[in-house]
Amino acid sequence: MVLADMSNELSGRVAIVTGGASGIGAASAVLLAAAGATVIVADLQDGPEGPGRFVAHDVASEDSWKSLLADVLKREGRLDIMVNNAGISGGPGNIETTTVENWQQVQAINSEGVFLGSKYAIEGMKKTGPGKPASKGSIVNISSIAGLVGGAGPTAYTAAKGAVRLLSKSVALYCAEQKYDIRCNSVHPGGVDTAIFNPLWQAMGHEEGKAFIGTRHPIGRMSEPGELGEVILFLASDRSSFMTGTEIAADGGITAGLMRRSLLAPS
Ligand SMILES: NC(=O)c1ccc[n+]([C@@H]2O[C@H](COP(=O)([O-])OP(=O)(O)OC[C@H]3O[C@@H](n4cnc5c(N)ncnc54)[C@H](O)[C@@H]3O)[C@@H](O)[C@H]2O)c1
Repeated sequence: MVLADMSNELSGRVAIVTGGASGIGAASAVLLAAAGATVIVADLQDGPEGPGRFVAHDVASEDSWKSLLADVLKREGRLDIMVNNAGISGGPGNIETTTVENWQQVQAINSEGVFLGSKYAIEGMKKTGPGKPASKGSIVNISSIAGLVGGAGPTAYTAAKGAVRLLSKSVALYCAEQKYDIRCNSVHPGGVDTAIFNPLWQAMGHEEGKAFIGTRHPIGRMSEPGELGEVILFLASDRSSFMTGTEIAADGGITAGLMRRSLLAPS
C-alpha cells in the first residue's frame, strides 16, 4: 500500500465505511484515517484489520441505519464521507439455479444496502451544521466489474452490482439538482485478494487460486485491497471535486476490451 503525504487532507471530516472490518473496506478505512478523517467501521463483524471506531451494523436493516446515523451524529457530530462497501458474493448461481432466497439475500445486502446507505448518507450530510463547517459530502458506492459487463453468472450478484451503478448516477444527479454539496460515484473492482474468495482459497489454495484469478486479468494478477483503497480515497477527497455520477473501473484491464483474444489474432 502506497501512503502519499496526505496526512491532513481529510482532517475534520467523518467517514463511515460499511464492511470496513475486512478486505477493500478495511484498506480504505486505513487510508482515510491516514489522510486525517475520523473513521467509523460499520460491519456485522469486528475485525483485526479495521482502524477507527467499530459499530455493529447490518446494511440490510433500515433500523440499523437509523441507529448508526443517530450514533455518529451524536458522537462525531457530522458526516462527510460514506463508503458503501459491505457486500457478499452470494455464490455462483446462474439464472436456472439461483433460488428466490439467494436472490433476495444478495439484493438485500449488495443492492438495498447501498440504497439505504446512500439515503442515510444524504440525511446525515444535510444535518451537519449549522455552527459547523458544512459537509462536503462524498458517497462512494462499491460495485464491481459485474456492474459494468454481464456474465452468465453469478446472476444475483451481477444484477445487484448493476443496480448500484445506476443508483449512484441517480443519487449524483438528484443531489446536484437539489444543490446539495454531495457527490456520488461508483467503483468497479476486478479480482481483489480478500476474504470474499475464501471458498476458492479453500478449494484451490490461496496462492494457486490467486494466480488462477490473476490470469483472467490482462494485467496478469489480482489486485491488493490497498489498490482499491487508493481509488476510494481519491473519490472521497476533494481531489475528485468535479466528479459525480461517474464510475471508475480498477480491474487490471478486464473491461477495457479484448487482449490477445482478437478474432483476427492467433491465441
Ligand atoms: N474482492 C473482489 O474481488 C471484489 C470485486 C468486485 C467487487 N467487490 C466488492 O467489494 C466489496 C467489499 O468486498 P471484499 O472483497 O472486501 O470482501 P470481504 O468479505 O473481505 O469484506 C466484506 C465485509 O462486508 C461485511 N458485511 C457483509 N454483509 C454485511 C452486512 N449485511 N452488513 C454489514 N457488513 C456486512 C463482512 O462482514 C466483511 O467484513 C463488496 O461489495 C464486494 O462485492 C469485491
